[in-house]
Amino acid sequence: MSVLTGEIREVAERIVAKYPNKRSAALPLLFLVQSVEGHVTDGGMKDVAEILGLTPAEVLATGSFYTMLKKKPQGEYLISVCRNISCTHLGARKVIAAAEERLGIEPGGTTADGKFSLEAAECLATCDGAPSMQINYEDFYKVTPEEIVALIDSLAAGKEVKSVAGDPVKSSKAIAYETAAAGLGLPVATATSAGRLVGGESLPADFAPGHRPKVPGTDAPPEAENPAADS
Ligand code: FES
Repeated sequence: MSVLTGEIREVAERIVAKYPNKRSAALPLLFLVQSVEGHVTDGGMKDVAEILGLTPAEVLATGSFYTMLKKKPQGEYLISVCRNISCTHLGARKVIAAAEERLGIEPGGTTADGKFSLEAAECLATCDGAPSMQINYEDFYKVTPEEIVALIDSLAAGKEVKSVAGDPVKSSKAIAYETAAAGLGLPVATATSAGRLVGGESLPADFAPGHRPKVPGTDAPPEAENPAADS
């Protein structure tokens, strides 16, 4: 089934127009599909192939390389707990076990209500905050088993949860939309509890999701360099 239609097709056309070689738009267009479907569907890949003049196999080859592009349905919130050396030494196994017990799934799984996916991640490059985890790519440091359960409880109850940088955790569809539309000056997407995207303020042209350089010696990003802090 076609995915990139109507208003979202117009966004796709604007993304393609950014690139001198339109096949360079493959990744953002796949994120755009994910922002609609929650993952990269066959219908979405066909749309991307048609827009870019590629074969579906070429689009699949591009998309399958990137772990942030999901090939199967994902939860609204992806919880990624680092299982690498520093985090394992400092208690990551207990954090993962607590999440498994709270959610009733193992790493790689998604809850039946589609709310949460859990994964045991490789090093998240925040070893100084071990054990580290992310929820939809927002960072949480020195996480305890009790804290991960409390974070899940809050999200399950529809409450706002903020990362160590002070940024609210957004839905996976909203993150995919922001990644696709970065640099277009389009409204930032936020998600309702029903998973629908609604507009907010505009993304600055140099916005790069997830890029939050920290002040040396602290866990805080510089306010001026963190556009998401203004939201
Ligand atoms: S080992 Fe866990 S963030 Fe690096």
